[in-house]
Amino acid sequence: MKVNSNFLKMPESYLFSEVAARIKAFREANPGKEVIRMDIGDVTLPLPSVVIEEMKQAAADLGESSTFIGYGPEQGHTFLREAIAATDYRSRGIDISETEIFISDGAKSDIGNVGDLFDVDNVIGLANPGYPVYFDANVIDGRKERVVILPCTQATDFKPQLPSEDMATIDVIYLCYPNNPTGVVLTREELQAWVDYAKAHDALIIFDSAYEAYISDENIPRSIYEIPGARKVAIEVRSFSKTAGFTGVRCGYTVVPEDLKKTDTDGNEVSLNKLWRRRQSTKFNGASYIVQRGACALYSPAGRKTIEENVGYYMRNACALRDALQAKGLIVYGGENSPYVWFKAPKGMTSWEAFDFLLEETGVSSTPGVGFGPEGEGWLRLTGFNSYEKTLYAISKINNICLI
Ligand code: MLT
Repeated sequence: MKVNSNFLKMPESYLFSEVAARIKAFREANPGKEVIRMDIGDVTLPLPSVVIEEMKQAAADLGESSTFIGYGPEQGHTFLREAIAATDYRSRGIDISETEIFISDGAKSDIGNVGDLFDVDNVIGLANPGYPVYFDANVIDGRKERVVILPCTQATDFKPQLPSEDMATIDVIYLCYPNNPTGVVLTREELQAWVDYAKAHDALIIFDSAYEAYISDENIPRSIYEIPGARKVAIEVRSFSKTAGFTGVRCGYTVVPEDLKKTDTDGNEVSLNKLWRRRQSTKFNGASYIVQRGACALYSPAGRKTIEENVGYYMRNACALRDALQAKGLIVYGGENSPYVWFKAPKGMTSWEAFDFLLEETGVSSTPGVGFGPEGEGWLRLTGFNSYEKTLYAISKINNICLI
């Protein structure tokens, strides 16, 4: 047996494992020093009570032979898919049906697995910095040499530019908006340009909208399907993690429109919805019934209200962080329509130097921008996902140090 050598083409640790290992080493070396976690985007507010009650009831139902349910549909239970289609899409005038929705154990799994749909020879366009799973998953699948970096720098306002005519045609483009890690959003016109590119070049867009609930600006699209033509070129991935505390519970969904068709190597037209259904039914037995019942409770009036409150709570943190860093004279992005705050490392430090500096001087743990790709070097990311009290405490610590 030989291993998949593609694994050896990546750094040994996943970004957030490396960050966690460094925080652990810091804690061991500095017992008694408090660490304020603002690195990984893990939420702190508890699960909504409406979710807890529904999951309790679902567990009780599984304990009665009359209501027991074993394997569910691999695509997800109809009750949840219908609630998503009606609330997240049709109520906003977006044409998506429940047959186009696939429930999963979280957006990360779907983002990691979606590469099963593409030929190994496809050219992959990745905005850089970007969520590391896009790159790592393509490396594991044998496409490291097929990745084209779309640099997002201060000069481009951290937005990817359309490939120029002399660049290789990109077959699959990963876009994440509101962006992780920079917090930047795309306007309708900017997203339309990517949809037009995909249409013109027979490309596929993987649209990661895990943070869409954080958009408060009505002019910013929350779904790629708000853009004319997107149903024919885009898959959208969403999550319950960042709005409803599901980072540990695990549930998300992916939309694969029925009119999204691409060709096989013989030129035959193939439905991606059918391929994804085939992929999921082979490799996945569906998200837990109890979890899907809990997720469905988020579509009740009480569920909607809690999500709104949670988003407001985390946004207050993100805004406070953004304002505090700006007041210290740093260059800051995000913190508007996004729970992430992205800022230039102080005093010309590299990302990891700044990570160590902030941790040692203030106890605040951040995520080094370079962990999201080489274009993130010299930048850091903080999250608004800690408690308001801890966020204010972190700000008071940051206010006491010299950053420029
Ligand atoms: C992040 O911090 O970038 C996210 O929490 C990662 C994730 O959602 O998997």
